[in-house]
Amino acid sequence: MMLPVINPAFMHRCLDLASLGRGRVGNGALVGAVLVRGETVIAEGYHRAYGDAHAERMLLESYPDEVKPDDVLYVNVEPCCHQGMTPACTNILIDRGVKHVVYGMVDPDTRVSGKGIETLQAAGITVTGPLERASCERFNKGFSSVRVKDRPWITIKMAKDRANRVSNEDGTQLKITSKEQDSWSHNCLRSTHDAIVVGVGTIFSDNPLLNRRFEQMSENRLPLGLNEDSKNQKNSFQPYKIVLDPRCTIPVSARVIGDRTIICIAADAMSSNAEKAHTLESAGVRLFPIRLAGDHFDWGDLWSGLITPKGDYHGITSILVEGGSKTWQAFASAGFVDEEITLTAPASS
Ligand SMILES: NC(=O)c1ccc[n+]([C@@H]2O[C@H](COP(=O)([O-])OP(=O)(O)OC[C@H]3O[C@@H](n4cnc5c(N)ncnc54)[C@H](OP(=O)(O)O)[C@@H]3O)[C@@H](O)[C@H]2O)c1
Repeated sequence: MMLPVINPAFMHRCLDLASLGRGRVGNGALVGAVLVRGETVIAEGYHRAYGDAHAERMLLESYPDEVKPDDVLYVNVEPCCHQGMTPACTNILIDRGVKHVVYGMVDPDTRVSGKGIETLQAAGITVTGPLERASCERFNKGFSSVRVKDRPWITIKMAKDRANRVSNEDGTQLKITSKEQDSWSHNCLRSTHDAIVVGVGTIFSDNPLLNRRFEQMSENRLPLGLNEDSKNQKNSFQPYKIVLDPRCTIPVSARVIGDRTIICIAADAMSSNAEKAHTLESAGVRLFPIRLAGDHFDWGDLWSGLITPKGDYHGITSILVEGGSKTWQAFASAGFVDEEITLTAPASS
């Protein structure tokens, strides 16, 4: 049997589609899938929201026509072979007669982890991959971190001026970065992490908004999409804003207060601040009671609070720790840093 030509550009299209699920899939994987005939995409799907059908299933359920023997299905994560919140994707691929699957990375979930590939192969499907593995693994670094380490991916981000200062001597905010750097931070960091984390000291000194602004750069790299609508879809994703505030001292007037804000407080601070807790919750804030271990939150309890779905909160998989010094120090001294990014003030400033 002649194998169809494999084109990495279709894997990039899977990632573009997958990115539309960011902020909606909770602690699940970001996955996109395309069905290709010759050099043309004939159907697309992506994991839209926590608990919804996976990308391959969504694609095949929205494509009523016959899948032909030379058609190739690309998907950025190995198809699952277990019944979770949705049925196994391998079943629908086999049932619908898909003969070629190209995947981007092995699923780190131990319930899958190679078994999805084996199931497809045992059914006579040719499976090719990992294709564009580095890009696919980086794209789902949060999902992998939660599955492998039981904690979110942690990126530390700091800005320093040319004298290595992160704030003014009196603790007030020092504007360090240029507009271009801010735009990059919003488009490439805030938009690729599920949540931004700050210590409450930064709320007092900077009173930040902690949202994602600045014009969004296109996440669609290649005009391979099925139609204009799917090419132009933009994800208006806003990361969660997390404040570490064990004593619940945050002013209720802080600019960060509102929807998609989580305040982590010491478990016993909830009852001793009942009225304030009520005011904060009425303003849309989620209060997460976390156990203390000495001066700091117990890390295991913090991770579990953040990654575990609860009610309409579906968990997060990656955090961008933006400061300030005490918070960076707490993460660094506990060894909880996967990546560190320092922005230095431009030479002219
Ligand atoms: N240049 C930059 O990139 C940048 C970015 C952000 C902020 N900053 C600057 O940094 C300064 C603020 O930094 P800061 O060190 O004073 O305060 P901070 O790090 O913003 O907040 C520290 C406080 O947050 C809580 N906290 C942090 N980590 C915790 C953990 N693991 N467990 C429990 N509680 C935790 C503690 O609250 P409790 O005190 O209640 O225990 C701690 O005292 C400001 O001057 C700001 O302008 C600079």
